[in-house]
Amino acid sequence: MTMKIIPNKHLPTTPQNATGNVEAYSAFIAWNINNLSDAKNLFGDLGDLAKDVKFPEKDHTFSCVCGFSPCGYEKVFGCDTPKELVKLPEIKGAKYNLTVDLTDGLFHLRASALGVIEEFLHNLVRKYPNALHVKKKVIGYKLSQNRDWLGFIDGTADPVTQEEREACVLIQSPNKKFNLGAYVLFQTYIHDLKAWDKTAVHEQEKIIGRGKLDNVQPLNQSPQSHIALNTIVVDGVEMDIVRDNAPFTTEKGERGTAFIGYSAQSSVLIQMLTNMFVGNPKGHYDHILDFSKNTFSCLYFCPNQDILDALGS
Ligand code: HEM
Repeated sequence: MTMKIIPNKHLPTTPQNATGNVEAYSAFIAWNINNLSDAKNLFGDLGDLAKDVKFPEKDHTFSCVCGFSPCGYEKVFGCDTPKELVKLPEIKGAKYNLTVDLTDGLFHLRASALGVIEEFLHNLVRKYPNALHVKKKVIGYKLSQNRDWLGFIDGTADPVTQEEREACVLIQSPNKKFNLGAYVLFQTYIHDLKAWDKTAVHEQEKIIGRGKLDNVQPLNQSPQSHIALNTIVVDGVEMDIVRDNAPFTTEKGERGTAFIGYSAQSSVLIQMLTNMFVGNPKGHYDHILDFSKNTFSCLYFCPNQDILDALGS
């Protein structure tokens, strides 16, 4: 879906880096607010804290996107919440249910070097030790050829140009609190790779909907494939999202995928989840779930950078 963003001088002009590209490392930090006034100062300082680690390391990339769940948003900004910022619904499928978690917010960090991410987090905790309480921290990395732990190339269908990415991710609203904001769904899945590896490659390809080696979508795509279930068409227009999936490993040695998807409409993300868990038509669920246990899910809203900066004292 492409749509031109028309600049309006009365509205904020700087989005967070929701449309950024996949980097070698990413970190996903889900947190609750511990001390509200310290937390507001921290959110207002995020732009500068990012510059502190980015500037001395000119060869490296770094960005931090900050999102708020409905309860986190209310704590920080009051009750006038973005239209589509909702607590994820519990989705009950015939075989699998969606695990819904409640945290106040999320940092999605992307960098070309892990050290830059850790330095940023260290500075943040040192400066605002009481602001937040970390509920979940996942460090993701890139495997060769952008493959995930299931062995498939992940991210191919993402919109490519900056214009396309902005059009599907950034909200256009006359309200300066919401304009250029974005919704983001963060989830983690742990894979059963023993069972997956025992599954024939042609079966795996049917489940995903692409060739494992050549990355090509077959002509006779199964309507139950992961790709088919995640293709949402509204009034003849395909609703793209920007994904940045990252493989990760737990302390126990389990392999997983941290899923992150940005969209200007949270209803699109929820529809994708419903198709995966319930199936479309009902019962024809996404068989990726037979090999991937959902262990965390929360929806957040990422306001524009100007609104975040204004929180600082
Ligand atoms: C276990 C976690 C997941 C894994 C390993 C995974 C992997 C993949 C792979 C390999 C592809 C095909 C290549 C590509 O275009 O990227 C794909 C496509 C896609 N996935 Fe996932 N995915 C996961 C979860 C999700 C979730 C939770 C959503 C949405 C809520 C989602 C949305 C999509 C979309 C929109 C596409 C592109 C469909 C198209 O071709 O138009 N994925 N995923």
